[in-house]
Amino acid sequence: MPKVVEPRYGNLPDETGSNGCFETMRVYRKKVFRLDAHLDRLYASAKFLGTAVPKREDLRARLLKRLKQSQLAEAVLRVALIPRSDGSLGNRRLFSSTAPQGLISIVVQPVILPPASVYRQGVHVAVVPTRKFPVSIVDPQAKYSARLGSVLAIMDAQLRTVDEALFTDATGYVTESTASNFGIIRKGAMFSSPCWVGLLSGITRDVLREIAQSLDVPFHEVPLTRHDLYVADEAFLSSTLKEILPVVSIDGRRIGTGWPGPISRALHRAFRELIRSETHRAQGCRG
Ligand SMILES: Cc1ncc(COP(=O)(O)O)c(C=O)c1O
Repeated sequence: MPKVVEPRYGNLPDETGSNGCFETMRVYRKKVFRLDAHLDRLYASAKFLGTAVPKREDLRARLLKRLKQSQLAEAVLRVALIPRSDGSLGNRRLFSSTAPQGLISIVVQPVILPPASVYRQGVHVAVVPTRKFPVSIVDPQAKYSARLGSVLAIMDAQLRTVDEALFTDATGYVTESTASNFGIIRKGAMFSSPCWVGLLSGITRDVLREIAQSLDVPFHEVPLTRHDLYVADEAFLSSTLKEILPVVSIDGRRIGTGWPGPISRALHRAFRELIRSETHRAQGCRG
């Protein structure tokens, strides 16, 4: 029988403990990839959620110090800003000088990547019944910690014995996956749904946009339907941790040849090349 604990006695975080925002970053060769983009997004999330923040330069210095202490060259760096309530949520005095300071969690972990075979073979995904909130209700631009939707979507994916879930919005447009963005390739061009259908503006997705331009692959933001997905030549997930992970089947429909396609592979190669060139430079005042 599990132990029953009493929150009042400090055994549990208070009710706002999962109400924070966070960033997950990749460290390559001791350098944080696109650190400033992650800090921009963290501070924007905190502003949206009314979370107290430390001075950006202080936080940046603490992140880099913690990374150095870890002595890891290849790592995952996580930072979370967790608001501390002065009582119930209703009593919070947002933005005021008396607003309680929150907690900062900084964790450096060794990288545990999907095995190389997953990139060679691709993954299988399904469009799941769990929907993304409309942006008018919960805007996913804030990278908040409370993610019941993602938990339910992962359960949906497991029930369908696929690797990952794809969300749709209330209309049926495909938005993103539980912790990654999603895109397709059709007739040599890349397509991804725009943020207003309900997806996080991913940093990897932005990098992909840059890379696509350098490879002369047009990038279009259009609301994607399931039909667009099923007739795609290639499809992929993108995130800081996964980088660019090819998708080879959606809802049991084979995508393209059923193997990772040439454009997805070229994009991933160019992505790794960009990481190499950016992390080659010293990490001074910029990320
Ligand atoms: C819901 C969601 N969408 C997309 C992404 C990809 O974002 P990024 O490329 O910045 O890692 C993430 C990353 O954690 C995510 O949680």
